[in-house]
Amino acid sequence: MSSGHHPPAARSRPVPAADLGLGVGLRSPHFAHVLSHWPEVEWFEIISENFMDSGGYPRHALDRIAERYPIVMHGVSLSVGSTDPLDFGYLDRLRRLADATRARWVSDHVCWTGVAGLNTHDLLPVPFTEESLAHVVRRVKVVQDVLERPLVLENPSTYAAFSGAAMSEWEFLARLATESGCGLLLDVNNVYVSAFNHDFDPEEYVRALPHDRVVQIHLAGHSDMGTHIVDTHDQPVAEPVWRLYELATSLTGPVPTLLEWDDHIPQFPELLAELDKARRYTAVSDAEARAESRTAVPVAMPVRCG
Ligand SMILES: [Fe+2]
Repeated sequence: MSSGHHPPAARSRPVPAADLGLGVGLRSPHFAHVLSHWPEVEWFEIISENFMDSGGYPRHALDRIAERYPIVMHGVSLSVGSTDPLDFGYLDRLRRLADATRARWVSDHVCWTGVAGLNTHDLLPVPFTEESLAHVVRRVKVVQDVLERPLVLENPSTYAAFSGAAMSEWEFLARLATESGCGLLLDVNNVYVSAFNHDFDPEEYVRALPHDRVVQIHLAGHSDMGTHIVDTHDQPVAEPVWRLYELATSLTGPVPTLLEWDDHIPQFPELLAELDKARRYTAVSDAEARAESRTAVPVAMPVRCG
């Protein structure tokens, strides 16, 4: 085991969350069902931007749901990888929503969404270079200071990559987490989609991450187009993604897991049935897997716990 090479603080998750269990993304077609049935789901994740600027019925529904269920906030507009200045007005609204919903944590993506004031509304890949890493680490620290809580960042699914990468995506994420103090949201479907599109080994990716930094896992369905895979979130989770989830949880131990479904959204009971499959794949972590995961993390990397 390599744990002796790390300061003890490096072994604790940045968000000391109890395992919330299994949750689903809260989507507007399900508001009425949730408010009338109070279904047995353990927590909800919300898309921050859907609530931070709007009042009315959606906010009323969220406020009532937040009284009964733990809420986690997931954003798509932080653009932490962009060279545009951070939007402090956005961060302020994010913090106010987090306070109001008692959000367990706030997440976004390792991406940029635009530059020079233009918003593409896409989660674009960052270059995996030292310069880009230092830039993102700097911005994550500012965001965490403003939010007064750790930020959790997700690996996006990607369809293009910058040439001249100095490291793999998983090395970038590992160093980002340890150098900025942020947590990781491991989307195993995104790992699978990007692995297919860029021809890397998804298992190597999952094994190499710093597992003690993984605060949350995402599951979702995708569309296989033959030559490439698109992260469509419009169908059940694919079998190879479940197997990747099984591997991930064998390495991380129990981690709050969330099912995302954003198009062709099924009735709530069907959504819960899909989520429930996660129980079949939640492997009991064994000491061997954990030991292996720790030796897979580069021991010389700088460690800074936020
Ligand atoms: Fe995701």
